[in-house]
Amino acid sequence: MKEARLQRHIPVFRVIFTELGRFVRLKRQWQSNVLRASSSGAGDGLPYFMPVISELSMTASSQLSHPLRSQRLNQITHEPHSHLDNLVKSHDPFGSPERFSHFVAAQYLFQRDLEKLYNDPQLIKLVPDLPQRCRVEQAALDLADLQRALPEGDDSIRNKAMGIGEALAWLFVSEGSKLGAAFLLKRMPALGLSETFGARHLGEPEGGRAQGWKAFTAVLDSVELDAEQERLAEAAAIAAFERFTVHLERCFA
Ligand code: HEM
Repeated sequence: MKEARLQRHIPVFRVIFTELGRFVRLKRQWQSNVLRASSSGAGDGLPYFMPVISELSMTASSQLSHPLRSQRLNQITHEPHSHLDNLVKSHDPFGSPERFSHFVAAQYLFQRDLEKLYNDPQLIKLVPDLPQRCRVEQAALDLADLQRALPEGDDSIRNKAMGIGEALAWLFVSEGSKLGAAFLLKRMPALGLSETFGARHLGEPEGGRAQGWKAFTAVLDSVELDAEQERLAEAAAIAAFERFTVHLERCFA
């Protein structure tokens, strides 16, 4: 009798233990992400910058709890980044140099969008090496290596008036993409490409990726913004991912 009652409860215990295990795993993963994100990281041993908080089913507004702006932008762009990452892979960009050239064309258009921001005197006061960080020239040279014409861009982002928060958020997405570039670069030898031919825009920035990122986020985190500017910065980070997605779809079409 007692045994039969116990038997009936087994599925309930199983669910409880499975859920508990899942919760503990997510919590551990989240803690290690936060720890790694707050460390400087180095070279290819990049910290994982995107906490899995969204996996804990938190809403966008409740995610914005981190004291650092760079971390808040990481959090709200976690979804768009995963989406973009999957989209890039779905286009098989490493299938051949020709396929990779579509990806480079999207990178070129995105860097072209931001070229003026990278050369903005006000922003250079905050980030002195900003002009050297732009990769529009490298992307153009890569396209020449790959024998692909420069795609024609529009000026909607280049000519957009932006406040400091928005500008830094667009640059955050571009600078952040250099972290993923380290992983993409590893696929290049199989295509006969490298950071000196066809994949220059993925190359290690002077001074190192981790150092460049740390210096940029230090500025991003130190600028004072009011609530409205903060909101605009967050919207701009999402808009930057959307813009890259549009370029990607256009270049692979
Ligand atoms: C237009 C913007 C971006 C593009 C096109 C992009 C693209 C990618 C791609 C395709 C990967 C996968 C590489 C692989 O697994 O082989 C990746 C990984 C990565 N990206 Fe991005 N990314 C962008 C923005 C960002 C931003 C803003 C950050 C940081 C704030 C970032 C940080 C990373 C990191 C750390 C990885 C390494 C693997 C991982 O943790 O998923 N990326 N990125």
